[in-house]
Amino acid sequence: MPESTQPYYVTTPIYYVNDEPHLGHMYTTIAADVLARHHRLSGDDVFFLTGVDEHGQKVQQAAEARDIAPIALADKVVQRYETLWPELSISNDDFTRTSSDRHKAGVHAMWKRLLDNGAIYKGFYEDWYCVPCETYWTETQLKDATHPEKENCLTAEICPDCKRSVEKIQEESYFFKLSEYQDKIIEHIKENPDFIAPASRQNEVLRFVEGGLRDLSISRTTFSWGVPVPDDEGHVIYVWIDALSNYLSALGFPEDTENMKYWPADVHLIGKDILRFHAVYWPAMLMAAELPLPKRVFAHGWWTVEGEKMSKSKGNALRPADLLDQYESDTLRYFLLREVPFGLDGDFSHDALKTRYNTELANDVGNLLNRSLSMLQKYRDGVLPAVVEEQSEDRALIADIEGMQREVNEHLNNQAFHLAIERISQVVRHGNRYVAENAPWTLAKEGNDARLDTVLYHLVEALRLIAVQLSPVMPVKMEQMLSQIMNTDINIDALRMQDVAGWGLLEAGHQCQKPSPVFPRMDS
Ligand code: MSP
Repeated sequence: MPESTQPYYVTTPIYYVNDEPHLGHMYTTIAADVLARHHRLSGDDVFFLTGVDEHGQKVQQAAEARDIAPIALADKVVQRYETLWPELSISNDDFTRTSSDRHKAGVHAMWKRLLDNGAIYKGFYEDWYCVPCETYWTETQLKDATHPEKENCLTAEICPDCKRSVEKIQEESYFFKLSEYQDKIIEHIKENPDFIAPASRQNEVLRFVEGGLRDLSISRTTFSWGVPVPDDEGHVIYVWIDALSNYLSALGFPEDTENMKYWPADVHLIGKDILRFHAVYWPAMLMAAELPLPKRVFAHGWWTVEGEKMSKSKGNALRPADLLDQYESDTLRYFLLREVPFGLDGDFSHDALKTRYNTELANDVGNLLNRSLSMLQKYRDGVLPAVVEEQSEDRALIADIEGMQREVNEHLNNQAFHLAIERISQVVRHGNRYVAENAPWTLAKEGNDARLDTVLYHLVEALRLIAVQLSPVMPVKMEQMLSQIMNTDINIDALRMQDVAGWGLLEAGHQCQKPSPVFPRMDS
């Protein structure tokens, strides 16, 4: 089969630089990384983008509170991300900054397109604004929200989303004619059931749009930290218009660059709190600019920590750097994607992480690797024997592996990480059952060499294919596992399914290494 060079474009949100990276940022980026790695493994031409959102009132205020310039704060937080991502094996192809010239040129080009197409006009904004969410609210929307601490108390001064104080804004502003896109967006969502995922979120967006879209204020005049409006520098472009444009500016938009082949994005991974921006404002902007819409927007759930909402005031926000002091990167990657279906909320608990690691990784995967390679050493000096005669249980193992390869692909195409991992775990458990049922130690004792050879071959070949499938989730551990099986240093990034996925590629006579533990048990 010729290598497919289908472009595949996956993005994370760009993270605000008002604060340090936390578990939420790490989660989306790991998920995007698994998709990027899986698609590279499948032979696709992948572009994986992450980066930071440097502008806006929130970042400006955070910088003022620290008595430094916004760009100095941004530089500091960018360093944190630049250190963190390699430690988590994040394989992004680009890291975008909204303060870069490349990005500003893209935002200006987007603005000009909207202007030229008659989608922008100047007016006056008089209503509410939530700085932490960088969101506009109408008086009615606020009145419909209840006060977080006082039941039945309607308030006009608390953000319906984050429940923090909103501020009243009265200023000249440019507006985007969002109201003109109400019907088109409804139509798009209805005609493209894959556009918003998980499906359970579609109704939420439809209800919001059907409730009526008002034109969107897209410039501010009362602070300066942002991209200036072209030819009207007293105005700064609304941070969400600026930020959403990153998905195109990072490809070189508006230039007709080589990277523009990646547009439209295959999937924007985001958290559920920013779905409206991605599933309503962004498509409307793209429609107005006459550009294709992303194929999918996937909104994942939120993590709590040991049953509690993460918050600065509680001081329980999990810092990736602290987690990496306690756990290996692959363990964190595995846990975050295995524990909770992508799309649902989940709880991070150290006990749950350790239990999952010890049961599924140390016991199941680690044990299968250790016992298989140990028996190969003991009975055949580590040299892979040839299959003598395949029996039905051998064929069942092979069929299960081929099923796994197909289904993992399907699950990952739906961003169902937990199902993909569970499908691989099924094969691991099958492998351990196969060992118990075939009892190689008895075959050795009985001198049944033909059957022993066949069983040892199937075990090692199964392990190899399990490791390949797990490699997007745990690149470091699977590189170690494959290196022991292949008896050479494997570069996990260079693997391609078309070269490695077939059953039976390991040849008889191949020397495997002695096992060394890849998943040592963790103390609870
Ligand atoms: N800058 C905007 C995104 C612009 S994209 C064009 C932004 N940045 S953010 O830093 O505030 O948030 C980034 C992401 O973190 C969001 O997707 C949000 O859902 C996610 N999370 C924040 N807290 C989270 C949890 N507790 N759990 C999981 N994800 C969480 O929004």
